[in-house]
Amino acid sequence: MCGIVGIISKHDVVEKIVSGLEMLEYRGYDSAGVAVIDQDGVIDRVRAVGKLQNLKSALNDQPIKGFIGIGHTRWATHGKATVANSHPILSKTVCVVHNGIIENCKELKFELQKDGYQFLTDTDTEVVAHLLQQQLDRGKSPREAFRYMLATVSGTYAFAVLFESSPHTLFVARRRSPLVLGFGEDICVASDTTALSGLSQEVIYLDDNEYAEISLSSVEIFNGNYELIKKDKVPIPESTIHTGKGGYDYYMLKEIMEQGSTLRHTMQHLSIPDNLFDDVSRILILACGTSYYAGMTARYWFEEYLHIPTDVEIASEYRYRKAIVQPNTLVVVITQSGETIDTLEALDYVRSNYNCRVLAISNVKNSAVSRMADYILYTDTGTEVGVASTKTFTAQLAVLASMAVHNNEFLLRELRNMPLLIEEVLSMQAQIKSLASSIVDVNSVLFLGRSSLYPIALEGALKLKEVSYIHAEGFAAGEIKHGPIALIDDTVPVICLCPYDSMFEKMSSNIQVALARGKRMLILTDAEGATRLPGEITKLIVPSVHPVFSALLYVVPLQMLAYYTALMRGNDVDKPRNLAKSVTVE
Ligand code: AGP
Repeated sequence: MCGIVGIISKHDVVEKIVSGLEMLEYRGYDSAGVAVIDQDGVIDRVRAVGKLQNLKSALNDQPIKGFIGIGHTRWATHGKATVANSHPILSKTVCVVHNGIIENCKELKFELQKDGYQFLTDTDTEVVAHLLQQQLDRGKSPREAFRYMLATVSGTYAFAVLFESSPHTLFVARRRSPLVLGFGEDICVASDTTALSGLSQEVIYLDDNEYAEISLSSVEIFNGNYELIKKDKVPIPESTIHTGKGGYDYYMLKEIMEQGSTLRHTMQHLSIPDNLFDDVSRILILACGTSYYAGMTARYWFEEYLHIPTDVEIASEYRYRKAIVQPNTLVVVITQSGETIDTLEALDYVRSNYNCRVLAISNVKNSAVSRMADYILYTDTGTEVGVASTKTFTAQLAVLASMAVHNNEFLLRELRNMPLLIEEVLSMQAQIKSLASSIVDVNSVLFLGRSSLYPIALEGALKLKEVSYIHAEGFAAGEIKHGPIALIDDTVPVICLCPYDSMFEKMSSNIQVALARGKRMLILTDAEGATRLPGEITKLIVPSVHPVFSALLYVVPLQMLAYYTALMRGNDVDKPRNLAKSVTVE
């Protein structure tokens, strides 16, 4: 969470920093700020609470200029979203932007306060600014101060720091939070390459514990022992250059509507490593959120078609359990961003304690996970900007399904047919929009599914709560009688995923049980299923699909339902409250 940008140029950098922040706003939008060193060699900064638009207005009222500057868009961890807590954070002659968490901030604050440094914010980052200032006050150079600070703080960080006493140099560092250097007419640094598109042609990805001193005339990169190292520049990946909303009001709708083509593209460019499953006797899937639901769906496929026992674990829980990984386990890590700290830490736990092969599935080229895995498969969807994952989820499912049925020509053909079926569902937009109007005012919605549609019920509920803020829960339909049925009354819509497949009869009984307790029900089914379900219930009839891949199809109307419900409630669909796309704090 939080996005950072830094630029050094021969021209004013403020506008470019704000454009970079615009691309990073998906990482957090509680507040934003910019700081520069002005022509008098003094740090000037402007900050505003809320979305970037507010910063732009503040900069209109109070313009600042400089050839070197840093910017930040915040997802609050320590301290509320106030101007005082907005980055860049200042201490006399030093200014810092930070993504991550300083874990020893309390101890450091105590020491710095004893030394006379006055704290004006509730942020953990302020200790960094004061620590640097303290070292300068003790006669240290910016380089010495920066190295001392890196050695003193614990936790996670990507930093960019301005020193008035070194007005042409930007100091940057990373540990567990992403940071990339960009090279073009200007020298830039950013949390990810999307912020650099248009500014840089080549990039260098910093690795953990590396830091850099950057000026227009030189870029020096150091490893964790402060030894100068050489890293090669690589061309900026094309998939990070995103092309706007394409005429849609929101990225989320654009990304939902793209799913036919993103799926085709992902499958065309996919190459499952030879012998991937040789000697594999167990699969362990680690992921969070929507990616975790993709993993849950894959378990059905892996066990049925690969005949390999599969465990799926919530990464944030897994790393704090003394989990045992059996010999010959293939670890599959699913992460759209490739940067989710919970997932990376869980992977790190496995890597540090067991010897096993790791395959990562990610949408972001060169993200941290790609450097920690033995194999990487990309969901080639292009950048997903909407905070709620949509097209990357279906692409994850396509990758996982391809892995599961890679030896089965018939099923591979069926899978390749999925984009067409999805496009049929996408053409039902008007119908789905009108269904959204029937849930727009409710307080709670339940989603029921069975088998591989159980994780889709969970994902449908997650999508709805993320963007509409309506309370929603997904359940395995057979499980509701064990408790959740108590939630059902006439006010609670129950959305059931019920294709005409081997689970149809069981699902129909679950529907009857729910119907006996409430009256608001929506069933997603196919033409055959519709003829066998009670006529009076509202149905959305989707194309019939090979039962193995129904998850890929049934999630799409649920994404649209969430989108339209949120839209009707007047929410900012692309930037739902409290969320950020890349979750780099634990
Ligand atoms: C999806 O809509 C969510 N915003 C969220 O659950 C996400 O899937 C989760 O944070 C994991 O992210 P990752 O795939 O980038 O690791």
